[in-house]
Amino acid sequence: MKYPLTLKVNGETYRLEVKPHRSLLEVLRDELDLTGTNDGCRTGNCGACTVLLDGAPIPSCLMLALDAEGHEITTIEALSAGGELHPLQRAFVQRGAIQCGYCTPGMILSAYALLRENPHPTEAEVRRALVGNLCRCTGYVKIIEAVLAAAEEMASAEVGSR
Ligand code: FES
Ligand code: FES
Repeated sequence: MKYPLTLKVNGETYRLEVKPHRSLLEVLRDELDLTGTNDGCRTGNCGACTVLLDGAPIPSCLMLALDAEGHEITTIEALSAGGELHPLQRAFVQRGAIQCGYCTPGMILSAYALLRENPHPTEAEVRRALVGNLCRCTGYVKIIEAVLAAAEEMASAEVGSR
Protein backbone atom coordinates (compact mmCIF):
# COMPACT_ATOMS: atom_id res chain seq x y z
CA MET A 1 0.00 0.00 0.00
CA LYS A 2 1.22 3.49 -0.85
CA TYR A 3 0.55 6.75 0.98
CA PRO A 4 0.43 10.29 -0.39
CA LEU A 5 3.50 12.39 0.33
CA THR A 6 4.20 16.04 -0.37
CA LEU A 7 7.93 16.61 -0.36
CA LYS A 8 9.70 19.95 -0.58
CA VAL A 9 13.11 19.51 -2.13
CA ASN A 10 15.45 22.28 -3.28
CA GLY A 11 12.55 24.73 -3.31
CA GLU A 12 10.30 22.51 -5.48
CA THR A 13 7.17 20.77 -4.24
CA TYR A 14 6.64 17.15 -5.29
CA ARG A 15 3.46 15.15 -4.81
CA LEU A 16 4.16 11.44 -4.63
CA GLU A 17 2.75 8.13 -3.49
CA VAL A 18 5.21 6.06 -1.49
CA LYS A 19 5.32 2.82 0.45
CA PRO A 20 5.71 3.42 4.19
CA HIS A 21 9.07 1.63 4.48
CA ARG A 22 10.82 3.72 1.80
CA SER A 23 13.63 5.90 3.11
CA LEU A 24 14.10 9.50 2.13
CA LEU A 25 17.30 8.40 0.37
CA GLU A 26 15.43 5.90 -1.78
CA VAL A 27 12.70 8.35 -2.70
CA LEU A 28 15.18 11.11 -3.60
CA ARG A 29 17.18 8.79 -5.83
CA ASP A 30 14.51 6.51 -7.29
CA GLU A 31 11.45 8.75 -7.52
CA LEU A 32 12.94 12.22 -7.96
CA ASP A 33 16.10 11.17 -9.82
CA LEU A 34 18.25 13.26 -7.47
CA THR A 35 21.15 10.84 -7.67
CA GLY A 36 23.73 13.24 -6.25
CA THR A 37 22.72 11.88 -2.85
CA ASN A 38 24.78 8.72 -2.63
CA ASP A 39 23.73 5.36 -1.27
CA GLY A 40 26.45 3.92 0.95
CA CYS A 41 26.01 1.90 4.14
CA ARG A 42 22.28 2.47 4.73
CA THR A 43 23.00 2.28 8.45
CA GLY A 44 23.76 5.91 9.25
CA ASN A 45 27.49 5.38 9.49
CA CYS A 46 29.10 6.72 6.30
CA GLY A 47 27.43 10.06 5.57
CA ALA A 48 27.31 9.46 1.79
CA CYS A 49 23.54 10.03 1.87
CA THR A 50 23.70 13.34 3.76
CA VAL A 51 21.04 15.91 2.92
CA LEU A 52 19.94 19.00 4.81
CA LEU A 53 16.66 18.85 6.70
CA ASP A 54 15.60 22.41 7.51
CA GLY A 55 19.25 23.35 7.09
CA ALA A 56 20.77 20.66 9.32
CA PRO A 57 22.69 17.67 7.93
CA ILE A 58 21.04 14.27 8.38
CA PRO A 59 21.66 10.77 6.96
CA SER A 60 18.74 10.39 4.55
CA CYS A 61 19.03 6.59 4.71
CA LEU A 62 17.74 6.68 8.29
CA MET A 63 14.69 8.82 7.70
CA LEU A 64 11.43 7.47 6.36
CA ALA A 65 10.32 9.52 3.38
CA LEU A 66 6.87 9.97 4.92
CA ASP A 67 8.46 11.62 7.96
CA ALA A 68 10.07 14.27 5.75
CA GLU A 69 6.73 15.86 4.93
CA GLY A 70 6.54 19.43 6.20
CA HIS A 71 10.30 19.89 6.12
CA GLU A 72 12.62 21.60 3.64
CA ILE A 73 15.07 19.16 2.08
CA THR A 74 18.23 20.37 0.40
CA THR A 75 20.32 18.05 -1.75
CA ILE A 76 23.68 18.61 -3.41
CA GLU A 77 21.89 19.51 -6.67
CA ALA A 78 20.76 22.80 -5.08
CA LEU A 79 24.31 24.06 -4.62
CA SER A 80 25.10 24.42 -8.30
CA ALA A 81 21.68 25.65 -9.35
CA GLY A 82 22.12 27.91 -12.36
CA GLY A 83 25.08 25.86 -13.55
CA GLU A 84 27.74 27.56 -11.44
CA LEU A 85 29.66 25.61 -8.83
CA HIS A 86 29.38 26.71 -5.23
CA PRO A 87 32.69 27.97 -3.73
CA LEU A 88 32.86 24.77 -1.67
CA GLN A 89 32.54 22.65 -4.80
CA ARG A 90 35.22 24.71 -6.56
CA ALA A 91 37.54 24.44 -3.56
CA PHE A 92 37.13 20.65 -3.43
CA VAL A 93 38.09 20.40 -7.11
CA GLN A 94 40.96 22.88 -6.90
CA ARG A 95 42.46 21.42 -3.71
CA GLY A 96 42.30 17.78 -4.78
CA ALA A 97 39.73 16.97 -2.08
CA ILE A 98 37.91 14.59 -4.43
CA GLN A 99 39.18 11.20 -5.49
CA CYS A 100 36.44 8.66 -6.16
CA GLY A 101 33.89 11.33 -5.20
CA TYR A 102 31.55 9.00 -3.37
CA CYS A 103 31.72 10.92 -0.10
CA THR A 104 31.86 14.34 -1.74
CA PRO A 105 28.17 15.40 -1.90
CA GLY A 106 27.71 14.53 1.77
CA MET A 107 30.97 16.22 2.79
CA ILE A 108 30.03 19.37 0.92
CA LEU A 109 26.53 19.54 2.40
CA SER A 110 27.87 19.08 5.94
CA ALA A 111 30.46 21.79 5.27
CA TYR A 112 27.80 24.04 3.74
CA ALA A 113 25.63 23.73 6.87
CA LEU A 114 28.66 24.55 9.02
CA LEU A 115 29.61 27.67 7.04
CA ARG A 116 26.05 28.98 7.20
CA GLU A 117 26.16 28.75 10.99
CA ASN A 118 29.80 29.64 11.41
CA PRO A 119 31.41 31.44 8.45
CA HIS A 120 34.87 31.50 10.09
CA PRO A 121 35.41 28.01 11.50
CA THR A 122 38.66 26.78 12.97
CA GLU A 123 40.22 23.58 11.65
CA ALA A 124 38.92 21.76 14.74
CA GLU A 125 35.39 23.00 14.06
CA VAL A 126 35.57 21.81 10.45
CA ARG A 127 36.78 18.40 11.61
CA ARG A 128 33.94 18.20 14.12
CA ALA A 129 31.33 19.18 11.53
CA LEU A 130 32.53 16.42 9.17
CA VAL A 131 32.74 13.71 11.79
CA GLY A 132 29.74 11.84 10.33
CA ASN A 133 31.16 11.82 6.79
CA LEU A 134 33.63 9.07 6.02
CA CYS A 135 36.13 9.20 3.17
CA ARG A 136 38.03 6.12 2.09
CA CYS A 137 40.32 7.94 -0.34
CA THR A 138 41.68 11.34 0.56
CA GLY A 139 42.93 11.05 4.13
CA TYR A 140 40.76 14.09 5.02
CA VAL A 141 43.61 16.66 4.99
CA LYS A 142 42.69 18.06 1.58
CA ILE A 143 39.00 18.07 2.46
CA ILE A 144 39.65 20.16 5.57
CA GLU A 145 41.90 22.50 3.55
CA ALA A 146 39.19 22.87 0.91
CA VAL A 147 36.52 23.80 3.46
CA LEU A 148 38.82 26.38 5.09
CA ALA A 149 39.73 27.81 1.66
CA ALA A 150 36.06 28.08 0.68
CA ALA A 151 35.27 29.80 3.99
CA GLU A 152 38.00 32.33 3.27
CA GLU A 153 36.80 32.90 -0.30
CA MET A 154 33.19 33.31 0.83
CA ALA A 155 34.23 35.74 3.59
CA SER A 156 36.23 37.92 1.16
CA ALA A 157 33.37 37.86 -1.37
CA GLU A 158 31.09 39.04 1.44
CA VAL A 159 33.47 41.89 2.38
CA GLY A 160 33.85 42.84 -1.32
CA SER A 161 30.09 43.06 -1.80
CA ARG A 162 29.61 45.55 1.08
S1 FES B 1 24.14 5.57 3.34
FE1 FES B 1 23.31 6.78 4.90
S2 FES B 1 24.90 7.01 6.35
FE2 FES B 1 25.70 5.63 4.88
S1 FES C 1 36.84 10.68 -2.30
FE1 FES C 1 36.47 8.53 -2.30
S2 FES C 1 35.39 8.18 -0.46
FE2 FES C 1 35.98 10.25 -0.34
